[in-house]
Amino acid sequence: MKLGRSPLLLSAGHLFLCLTAIWVLTTADLAAGQRPGCPAKCGDVDITFPFGIGDECALHSGFGLSCTTVNGTTKPYAGTIEVTKISVPESKAWLNTWVSSQCYFPSNGTNYLNAWLNLSDTPFWISEVDNAIIVIGCNTLAYMTSSSYVIGCSATCTDVTLENGLCSGAGCCQADVPKDISYYRGYFNENYNTTNIWQDSPCSYIVVMEKAAFSFNTSYVKSTVFYDTYQDTVPIALNWQIRPWSCEVARKNMSSYACISKDSECVDTTHGKEKGYRCNCSRGYKGNPYIMGGCQDIDECHANYNPCGIEICQNTPGNFSCSCRPGYYMTNGVCVPIQKRSRFRPMPVVGASIGLVVLVIVVACACLIQARRRLRKMKQTYFRQHGGLMLFNEMKSKEGNAFKIFTEEELQQGTNNFSEKQVLGHGGHGTVYKGLLRGYVEVAVKKCMTIDEQHKKEFGKEMVILSQINHKNIVKLLGCCLEVEVPMLVYEFVPNGTLFHLIHGNHGRSISLATRLRIAIESADALTYLHSSASTPILHGDVKSPNILLDGNHSAKVSDFGASIMAPTDESQFVTLVQGTCGYLDPEYMQTCYLTDKSDVYSFGVVLVELLTGKIPFNLDAPEKEKSLAMMFMSAMKENRLADILDDQVKGEDNMVILEEIAELAKHCLDMSGNNRPSMKEVTEKLDGLMKVIQHPWAPQDPEEMEGLLSEPMDNSAIGSAGFFSIEKKAINAMQSGR
Ligand SMILES: *[C@@H]1O[C@H](CO)[C@@H](O)[C@H](O)[C@H]1NC(C)=O
Ligand SMILES: *[C@@H]1O[C@H](CO)[C@@H](O)[C@H](O)[C@H]1NC(C)=O
Ligand SMILES: *[C@@H]1O[C@H](CO)[C@@H](O)[C@H](O)[C@H]1NC(C)=O
Ligand SMILES: *[C@@H]1O[C@H](CO)[C@@H](O)[C@H](O)[C@H]1NC(C)=O
Ligand SMILES: *[C@@H]1O[C@H](CO)[C@@H](O)[C@H](O)[C@H]1NC(C)=O
Ligand SMILES: *[C@@H]1O[C@H](CO)[C@@H](O)[C@H](O)[C@H]1NC(C)=O
Ligand SMILES: *[C@@H]1O[C@H](CO)[C@@H](O)[C@H](O)[C@H]1NC(C)=O
Ligand SMILES: *[C@@H]1O[C@H](CO)[C@@H](O)[C@H](O)[C@H]1NC(C)=O
Repeated sequence: MKLGRSPLLLSAGHLFLCLTAIWVLTTADLAAGQRPGCPAKCGDVDITFPFGIGDECALHSGFGLSCTTVNGTTKPYAGTIEVTKISVPESKAWLNTWVSSQCYFPSNGTNYLNAWLNLSDTPFWISEVDNAIIVIGCNTLAYMTSSSYVIGCSATCTDVTLENGLCSGAGCCQADVPKDISYYRGYFNENYNTTNIWQDSPCSYIVVMEKAAFSFNTSYVKSTVFYDTYQDTVPIALNWQIRPWSCEVARKNMSSYACISKDSECVDTTHGKEKGYRCNCSRGYKGNPYIMGGCQDIDECHANYNPCGIEICQNTPGNFSCSCRPGYYMTNGVCVPIQKRSRFRPMPVVGASIGLVVLVIVVACACLIQARRRLRKMKQTYFRQHGGLMLFNEMKSKEGNAFKIFTEEELQQGTNNFSEKQVLGHGGHGTVYKGLLRGYVEVAVKKCMTIDEQHKKEFGKEMVILSQINHKNIVKLLGCCLEVEVPMLVYEFVPNGTLFHLIHGNHGRSISLATRLRIAIESADALTYLHSSASTPILHGDVKSPNILLDGNHSAKVSDFGASIMAPTDESQFVTLVQGTCGYLDPEYMQTCYLTDKSDVYSFGVVLVELLTGKIPFNLDAPEKEKSLAMMFMSAMKENRLADILDDQVKGEDNMVILEEIAELAKHCLDMSGNNRPSMKEVTEKLDGLMKVIQHPWAPQDPEEMEGLLSEPMDNSAIGSAGFFSIEKKAINAMQSGR
């Protein structure tokens, strides 16, 4: 008998009570029975009938286990297989089985271990619901054979991202276990082996194991940790039944019928063609139906949870009944106060409060699940939106391409959750973080700020093109992450700062003209490559000294393709987005909004002037005429005052000719009309020629020979203005007169 509490207290109390009720129900299963005199436990494992230690304690020898102590730990074994758990209500048992492996080590060659499990002639078979065939490896095709099946899958590590917890082909794959099998053996296709990749991934594995007990860990493919952890302890879930008769047949021979408890029932089961049955306690009873008196009435009222709410509960065999508290009476299954006019109806209130609590829990769970699902879906949507599928397919078809599609998690991990400390710089297009991937690869991760609709669709396509850029003076794009709202780009890390920093933040350290010229050439070469690359010319769109990075050897690496675009192939693709940076921006582009390769040439011209003068391209604080370096330079050139604005570090009698040549080149690049500017290719060749002059002070006296040397690029160059190409000659003349 149980009296209720006040309805107000109940709603809070019920949450707790519901939970404890669940706990009581699950632990009750363990309190099952054995035959008299038989051990209830072996080690930590509960042994419940029909299982038993020794055949005499078991229903028959098929359920007989041995209890063995090895090295101080006692465990039950079915034959030679360790049993870790038995569940009578579920008709299941959990055993530990073995891992099949294929390992290559140079010292030993390829070693195979083909583990097998044979449950024929036992009450067990492999649960197809709980288990999966799991294959782990980087170049693996493994399968399990059964009497009538060959099932397997293949796993690879090339061009895919391994992910903890994800087993769908990348380093790990899985297949469903067929119904009703009681035998399997693991095999490997020998044509898939680790002979060539053993240093990264020596071993492959196949196991048939409980799904819930497996979570892929990327370390499994890289070492033998999976084998070392599981070896002969892979959990597998088995079904069992009493065989070989159905309930109807079995009942006829009561001396062998297993469901002997009162209040139990027989349930037919089948395993393949073989008939069998299992026993269940009837509703309202719990316990072990396989032993006499095993099924016990559940005292519903005695549980912490009162099924009658605040009313009086009375237990009956297999059931319970409710009656109203004193002062209340039942009408239509609801208790109402005996005073007639009262509208207070406690049952509905209780019902409502229980309902409310349940609703809150359900809603909370649903929200959680929904939120997770939404996140996944969102990732997928972004991935698709950004052309991820197309990119993914493209990447797959290109063997050996180092370009990778990263997951958000990977980048979060690598950048310490995009910590402020990892920020390398803030650009107009986003923030760049320093990252460390796989613990040792230094990268720069660029998180863009926004991206317009048109760009979004093209993103995957652009990635395909950008990923193919391979030039020693262009920062290599290693991969991208598409499953976020705004895609992230992963670049190689270039350690030595930017050209801007070198020129303007160098604290007076001298930079020789040769170095300046070399950086200019390398940058120009990179831009030439972009402009003339393959099928789709690429415009940089934001050439400037902060975008020219310097590596360990002070080699230039052009960066920041967040702004870059494929050259439009038709008129409709006008670029309307104004990008670029003050001081570097092509004035023609500002008028026409049409970005061309000559816009990059203009910007490069500004970089050249920067290199010559050491001045900042745009200085808001300067007087009107000197705000823009390009304009200041052009007027100086016009008034023949070049020497006034040259950087003191490079100014010197013997350099003057070269400096004038570079200035002349810069002037051409800065021409107001794009058509009059040289192409990047011409600029590169011009600079190359000047470099040769600097590098060969010992140059031959013979003007003919030298002219040949210097004019070589001229022959390759496309049409240019006559003034522009007269430079080589002048240089030679100057050199000769200087001697
Ligand atoms: C028992 O322990 C010893 C040492 O700890 C070990 O060498 C041996 O292999 C163990 N035996 C078994 C059956 O695990
Ligand atoms: C090679 O095989 C031997 C014996 O089979 C084994 O003890 C050894 O650990 C193996 N070496 C490697 C590197 O796996
Ligand atoms: C499995 O074991 C049974 C007997 O225990 C035997 O008849 C059968 O051949 C075995 N199956 C395989 C494939 O070894
Ligand atoms: C490994 O695979 C290659 C290529 O499929 C094959 O030629 C070679 O024989 C295999 N090695 C072994 C030990 O099976
Ligand atoms: C993966 O395995 C490594 C080494 O065994 C372990 O340190 C790490 O915690 C595991 N990671 C996950 C996500 O399980
Ligand atoms: C009934 O079962 C017992 C025990 O398994 C067996 O010895 C007996 O032969 C069976 N009787 C019939 C009629 O099948
Ligand atoms: C056996 O009983 C349990 C608990 O009473 C129940 O959940 C399960 O559905 C029953 N199984 C069958 C086959 O009736
Ligand atoms: C338990 O009793 C209720 C009425 O109190 C009845 O509706 C229900 O069918 C009974 N359940 C069983 C298993 O007897």
